[in-house]
Amino acid sequence: MKTPYPYVKGFKFLKGEDLLSDHQLELNEISEFRNFFDGNVKSDPYSPVRTRGMLKIEYDYISRELTKSEVQSYFASGKANDLNGGMSRTFNIIDESLLNNTTFRAIFSQHEPLIREYCEVNDVQTANISIHFIRYQAKEGEASYSSPVWLHQDDEPLVFIHLIQLTENALGADNVISGFDDLPTNVIRLTNFMDCLIVDPTLKHAVTPTGSVKGTARRDTMLINLENLSQQVYGSY
Ligand SMILES: [Fe+2]
Repeated sequence: MKTPYPYVKGFKFLKGEDLLSDHQLELNEISEFRNFFDGNVKSDPYSPVRTRGMLKIEYDYISRELTKSEVQSYFASGKANDLNGGMSRTFNIIDESLLNNTTFRAIFSQHEPLIREYCEVNDVQTANISIHFIRYQAKEGEASYSSPVWLHQDDEPLVFIHLIQLTENALGADNVISGFDDLPTNVIRLTNFMDCLIVDPTLKHAVTPTGSVKGTARRDTMLINLENLSQQVYGSY
């Protein structure tokens, strides 16, 4: 029998420059992507400390095409998220032009082999994927934090976490990996554009809250979540 999560053995760090090495990234693409991100995050109805956007898409194994899903809400279990789990959440919907964005396409094509492997392991022709833009923003003396706040195991078999921007005045904002004893084993900082951490449910992870040395600090991230089978069939979400 195949193992359920044969992908990254818990986690894997990839440098953005390596992910984009086939792509000849132009400097203006970085600022364009950051501007696109900026225009597609709105206040998070479930928390005042973040702004967010989400786009749910379907990946077709045969045609390799990406299309916008009909249902645009996101379910996390209570087990995976003790803060906002056990419910479906809806966020500002990211403009689907993202799917034709050259930077996004370049990143997605690097992750595509793992997504195809998921389809093969689970014998599915369509993979449901949610793309999340999450902005952690804090002024001096404030804290912005993730949901869930601390170490957890995701519902998703694969989550690709990408850094879009981390301002120099940010405090914290480090990724942490642990086993199921909750003792941290690795601390990873996503520093440069599209630096990426891939996580699977065989280990736990967290990100430390974001604070600010001075002024307003921001950590902008793009998550590409490959949804598991039970999330994929969660009725109308
Ligand atoms: Fe997570």
